[in-house]
Amino acid sequence: MLSKRSSAERSSLVAAVAATAAAKAAVTRYGFRSTIALLRHHVANQAATSVNGAAYSLAFARRCCHCAVVSTQWYENFFYGMANELWDKCMPPEATKAEAEFIAAELGCLTGARLLDIPCGNGRHCRELAQRGYRMTGFDISREYIEKAKGLSPDVEWICDDMRNLKAVAEFDGVCCFGNAFGYMEHEDTVKFLAALSRALKPRGRFVLQSAAAEVVLPRFKEREWYEVGDMVFAEVNEYSAARSCIETKFTFIRDGKMETRPGRQFIYTAAEVQRMLAAAGFRILSTYGSIERKPFALGSEILYTVAEKI
Ligand SMILES: C[S@@+](CC[C@H](N)C(=O)[O-])C[C@H]1O[C@@H](n2cnc3c(N)ncnc32)[C@H](O)[C@@H]1O
Repeated sequence: MLSKRSSAERSSLVAAVAATAAAKAAVTRYGFRSTIALLRHHVANQAATSVNGAAYSLAFARRCCHCAVVSTQWYENFFYGMANELWDKCMPPEATKAEAEFIAAELGCLTGARLLDIPCGNGRHCRELAQRGYRMTGFDISREYIEKAKGLSPDVEWICDDMRNLKAVAEFDGVCCFGNAFGYMEHEDTVKFLAALSRALKPRGRFVLQSAAAEVVLPRFKEREWYEVGDMVFAEVNEYSAARSCIETKFTFIRDGKMETRPGRQFIYTAAEVQRMLAAAGFRILSTYGSIERKPFALGSEILYTVAEKI
């Protein structure tokens, strides 16, 4: 079929194959013929893209979603480029300030206390908390984020590593884990991570966790979602595995005609499961909230905050 196409179209198809990571995955999974059929559709619709904006690209991304294979350690190779830029755009400075106030209040530490922010991302909470007089350590797997953070705040201790490798013992007065970063790892690794956090804290040290619990995520679960954030378009195709209680997502980021797709997975825990896991790791639960204004946590809450103390 390809031979009947013009050489211009063939070049266009080949260029699209080279440029599209999703297409490369499709070639591996479905073979070249099926991929060409997919890309022919892509090329035929490029004109429509200029008229319909991102809508077509999203339709293409959706087709590619069936190629997703989520690795157990997907997070090792996810947080760079457009994924990080999108997260940064979604977190306005006022939200970071309010969250830092909340963290400081709930940790209840004196100025000068040593705090760990894990994973810290671009270090937005570390910078705010350092300005309030805390001695901050930011820990994250994303080299891009940590390099950027080092440039902005050399006074903070930055560690670029996998949370699964946290080895500190009784070093910190308080710990926070914010930004929907709970549940990325396999369940056994999350259990070990909570035990490592407990070891890293001094006795009576507190842990503040912000997480998208089952009561938050499942009532608003959608198989397909897309958003425009500034100059970027972001699409998700979600599949809920009831057997494993996790959401597998194909994320698509589009800007200036450039598209990146990456798979991810997040395990979903109810509020009570989080509390049981924390108790098993040596914590006592102090409070739970359903918002930063400290509304009671309920089915359909916007987020779950859990505050716990090391026994
Ligand atoms: C959505 S961002 C949130 C970052 C930050 N807490 C915030 O609120 O801006 C999730 C972060 O988790 C980090 N991350 C994911 N898995 C990790 C792991 N196994 N070890 C360390 N960092 C990890 C990513 O690199 C990314 O920076």
